[in-house]
Amino acid sequence: MSIDVSTVERRFQEQAGGDLDWVVRAPGRVNLIGEHTDYNEGFVLPMAIERAVWVGLRRRPDRWVRVYITADSQWREFHLNAMRRQGNTPIEYVQGTAWALREEGFDLRGWDGVLLGDVPIGAGLSSSAALEVAVARAFAAASNLPWDPVRMALIAQRAENRWVGVQCGIMDQLISACGKEDHALLIDCRSLESRPVPLPAGVKVVILDTGTRRGLADSAYNERRQACESTAASFGLKALRDLSVEALSARAGELDELTARRVRHVVGENARTQLAAQAMEKGDAESLGRLMVESHASLRDDYEVSSQALNAMVEIALQQPSCYGARMTGAGFGGCAVALVQEAAATQFAENVSREYRAKTGNEPAVYITGATAGASVLFSRDADPAA
Ligand code: GLA
Repeated sequence: MSIDVSTVERRFQEQAGGDLDWVVRAPGRVNLIGEHTDYNEGFVLPMAIERAVWVGLRRRPDRWVRVYITADSQWREFHLNAMRRQGNTPIEYVQGTAWALREEGFDLRGWDGVLLGDVPIGAGLSSSAALEVAVARAFAAASNLPWDPVRMALIAQRAENRWVGVQCGIMDQLISACGKEDHALLIDCRSLESRPVPLPAGVKVVILDTGTRRGLADSAYNERRQACESTAASFGLKALRDLSVEALSARAGELDELTARRVRHVVGENARTQLAAQAMEKGDAESLGRLMVESHASLRDDYEVSSQALNAMVEIALQQPSCYGARMTGAGFGGCAVALVQEAAATQFAENVSREYRAKTGNEPAVYITGATAGASVLFSRDADPAA
């Protein structure tokens, strides 16, 4: 059952007692194409999904923040003047976001709140970015801060990089803050400008969770990032974004074989992502699907961030006649694939792929057919002015 304002109000009443002042929501995301390009200042094409993190809150007269974490059935609290790591994951995202907002010079007020959500954790659907952006939205409501989604996404990213300690790029927080209903966003991760791109008519985005997990922090993510940055520097470039397909083929001989493959992924993926946005603007699901398949092959063979489970899921999805394209999505090594499917056949597609994946791998999959939703927002406000 999906979460709505009344679910959050009820939970608040049960746990905190009385009425809340605001209900805020920030969505998870699925990336259609443009993987491992954000930290190379390149292009990404994600969309915000129906699954989200919700916070229901009531302002406090002091500077305590008390949060009921539904997933752990526990209250956690901290004082805004005395934040220290508690070693409990959800509250670290709340504290980290508070810390990053204060670093930015915002004066924060305390609140009591309930935190709940339905973004699966560690599945590559950005549950942590959704949590950070939802918490930023909650603080903005309680402390009467101006809501600039791009600025808030950067603050949420700083919480993740510096408080939680994961060196992610900007994609996840940015799409959670800026998502647009029925659209993906082509984001330029250098300028942080984005262009809404409509989903082609008659297609559905289907998220295929392999049921396998691999943490980002202990993965090869930082290693890949490092290789990209040092190659850009050795070429005298600010980032791999500045390397064209032609310039790379002229200079590939300067790189060792492994580095050349890593860089080829990033350069090719940037080009594919821009082509994918153009295909979507023309309503061309076939071309978009083809580009997704090429992206998967490049992540599997050149960037080497896929896994057996992800490859199996993608292969099974592509065998279905209703499927335009499929690929791993997010950082990789486990988690989810994403498929583009004929709308009328989406339910049948989900059933067939689940059955075949289970039989082939023994893993238990989960499938989410999803539309594109709006980024972080206040869905209920007791104040007359909902922006307050
Ligand atoms: C994770 C990171 C993002 C991005 C993707 C790979 O989701 O949080 O910043 O780098 O991996 O595209």
